[in-house]
Amino acid sequence: MKIMICGADGKLGQRLARDLGPRNDVRAFCYADLDIERLDPVYQTAREIKPDAIINAAAFTAVDRCEDEIDAAYRANAVGVRNLAVAADSVGARLVHFSTDFVFDGERSGPPYREYDTPNPLSVYGKSKLTGEREALQNCGRGMVLRLAWVYGPGGWNFTDWVVDQARQGKEMRVVTDQIGTPTWTGDVVRQVARLLDEDGRGLYHATGGGECSRYEWACEALRLAGLPTERVIPVTSEALVQKAPRPRYSVLDNFFLRGQDLDVMRDWREALSEHLNEAGALT
Ligand SMILES: NC(=O)c1ccc[n+]([C@@H]2O[C@H](COP(=O)([O-])OP(=O)(O)OC[C@H]3O[C@@H](n4cnc5c(N)ncnc54)[C@H](OP(=O)(O)O)[C@@H]3O)[C@@H](O)[C@H]2O)c1
Repeated sequence: MKIMICGADGKLGQRLARDLGPRNDVRAFCYADLDIERLDPVYQTAREIKPDAIINAAAFTAVDRCEDEIDAAYRANAVGVRNLAVAADSVGARLVHFSTDFVFDGERSGPPYREYDTPNPLSVYGKSKLTGEREALQNCGRGMVLRLAWVYGPGGWNFTDWVVDQARQGKEMRVVTDQIGTPTWTGDVVRQVARLLDEDGRGLYHATGGGECSRYEWACEALRLAGLPTERVIPVTSEALVQKAPRPRYSVLDNFFLRGQDLDVMRDWREALSEHLNEAGALT
C-alpha cells in the first residue's frame, strides 16, 4: 500500500513511518517538508504521490499554549485537516486522522465514553480537535478518525519517559490523582491503524489502551516496572497543579466500534507500558 504520512517528526508520526515502512511504500513528510495548513502543497503532493492512504499525525498538541494561540490551534487542528481530507478525496485515498479524549468534558465518573456519546470539550485544544474530526469525516468519503488518549512513545516528550528520567535523577514530581484516563502506546496505535487499513475501516473509532488509571497510578506503575522507587511521586489534585487549559477529570474511552467490528487490537495499558519500557531498555 502506498501511504503518505504527515507530521512524521512527531511521536506518533515517527512510529507510523518506522513500523508501516517495511510492509508498505511509505512517503513520510516532516513539518518542514509539508505544512498541512498550506492547501496548494498538500494538493500537489497528494497528486504527485497518488497514495492509497494519507495518515495525518500532524497537530498542534501543546494543550496549554492553545488557550492563547487560538488561531494557530484551529489552523493546524482543523484547517490543515480539511486540506488533507479534500486532497485525499480528490485522489481517491483514504484519510486516517487522530483525535483526542479531550473532546469530552469528563464530568462523569463512568461508564467509559463511547463514540456515540456527546462531546463537550473544555479547552481550545479539545474544541479545535473536535472541529478537525468533523472536517476529516465530512470532506473525505473514505475518512476515519481514531480518538486516542494519553499518548506516549519514543521520539518526543512523553509522560512515561519523563517520570522515569525524573526518578533516575532523584527529583520529586507532582502528579495528579484526580484525572482518570488510559495511557496509549504509539506502537499499539500503529498496529491498530494497520488493522483498520487492511479491513477498510471507516468513520469514528475510540482507540485507546484497555483499562483505566489516574496519572499518579500511571507514574507509579512505570517506576515499579523500571525498578525505581515511587516515593518521589507526590500525589496532588488538579486544583493544586495550575494548568492553563482545563482537563477532563474522567476521560476513559471505550473502543466500542472497534470491538463491535471485531477489529480491536489494543492491549491493557500495563502490558503496553511494559513493552515500551522493555524497548527503551528500562525494564527490570
Ligand atoms: N500526545 C497525546 O497525549 C495525545 C492524546 C490524544 C490524542 N493525540 C493526538 O495524536 C496525534 C499525534 O500526537 P503526538 O503525540 O504524536 O504529537 P506530537 O509529538 O506533538 O506531534 C505532532 C507533530 O505535528 C507537527 N505539526 C504541527 N503543526 C503542523 C503543520 N501545520 N504541518 C505539519 N506538521 C505540523 C508538530 O511540529 P511542532 O512540534 O514543531 O509543532 C509535531 O512534530 C495528534 O493528532 C494528537 O492530537 C495525542
